[in-house]
Amino acid sequence: MSTTKEKTVKVSVTGASGQIGYAILFRILNGEVFGKHVKIDLQLIDINVDKVQKALHGVALELEDCAFPLLNNLTLHSDPHTGFTDTEYCFLIGAKPRGPGMERKDLLQANGQIFKTQGVALNEKASRKVKVVVVGNPANTNAYIAMMSAPDLSKDNFSAMMRLDHNRAMNQVANKLDSNVNRLSNICVWGNHSPTMVVDITNGFLDGSNNLNDLLDKEWVAQTLQPTVAKRGAEIIEQRGLSSAASAASAAIDHMHDWVNGTTWTTMGVPSKGEYGIPENIISGFPVNCKDERCSIIQNLDINDVLQSKIGISIAELQDEQENIKGLL
Ligand code: NAD
Ligand code: LMR
Repeated sequence: MSTTKEKTVKVSVTGASGQIGYAILFRILNGEVFGKHVKIDLQLIDINVDKVQKALHGVALELEDCAFPLLNNLTLHSDPHTGFTDTEYCFLIGAKPRGPGMERKDLLQANGQIFKTQGVALNEKASRKVKVVVVGNPANTNAYIAMMSAPDLSKDNFSAMMRLDHNRAMNQVANKLDSNVNRLSNICVWGNHSPTMVVDITNGFLDGSNNLNDLLDKEWVAQTLQPTVAKRGAEIIEQRGLSSAASAASAAIDHMHDWVNGTTWTTMGVPSKGEYGIPENIISGFPVNCKDERCSIIQNLDINDVLQSKIGISIAELQDEQENIKGLL
């Protein structure tokens, strides 16, 4: 018999009956974020439409049928105020996805209000130490909207998912070097989760000591790596007819896992405090480390002029998105 008291965490997921929801819930309950010994109170949220709530109920039946030992309590919600009560870890996924020919920022008008409402609800109901990852697009600006709508929570509670871009870059580089992602470190993606994102391998290593600058041809980095990662979401929509779901869920798991369990280097969209000349409160992709459930932007990296100017373009796009939603705040 175990003598240690079991820990239970409260986790909320919005858009729980959607594609990413269906790909993430089973993995959360399988212990892939919080570990195999942490029980989970899971609060699932989707919109108040009969068909959607019915689908959500169906997902709940399946979750129960898995007999996950880590599932402590499961509740279904259409109101974020109840779905976010005391929540400690929050995956904000619910939002419209883009279709072929659209950019993610075209979703801002349709999705922005969702994150205002949810920010207000988090402000009122969530644990003061809640960790929020925004997946719904355009993720950086939606995270900004939620953060600005929750003035009683620390800005450090909010993040946007750039991990899919990071993972895509890791995979491309590993393939190019005929290597494995495990052997790579210190790659990151700056800026917006949009085609202006900036993949940065300049501080990266293979096996901890071989600098990627010396191993990768500059032309391949600029002409292949960067555009492949930047356009990967659109490529998937074009091929699959639907936006990425399992890979997005996997990236959200990685993001929250590393925030909770620690990492020496990954990419997260977090609010700037002025680092690298990026204006305060812009939620940009940054290289971060995480320890004791806090993440910090890695400081004092050398950013060459070419990268700095590309990052500037992505940040200008984020400022433009902020300008477009000013009326919401
Ligand atoms: P989906 O259409 O399959 O599911 C979205 C779900 O969200 C639906 O069940 C819908 O009813 C629900 N929803 C809508 N408004 C809601 C609200 N106010 N509260 C709670 N739930 C709400 O879409 P999906 O494929 O799961 O994608 C979800 C979002 O994630 C999209 O915006 C998509 O563009 C985005 N996405 C982001 C990344 C990233 O890297 N940041 C990657 C993939 C997808
Ligand atoms: C992605 O990068 O796959 C997602 O943001 C979905 C999209 O619209 O591209």
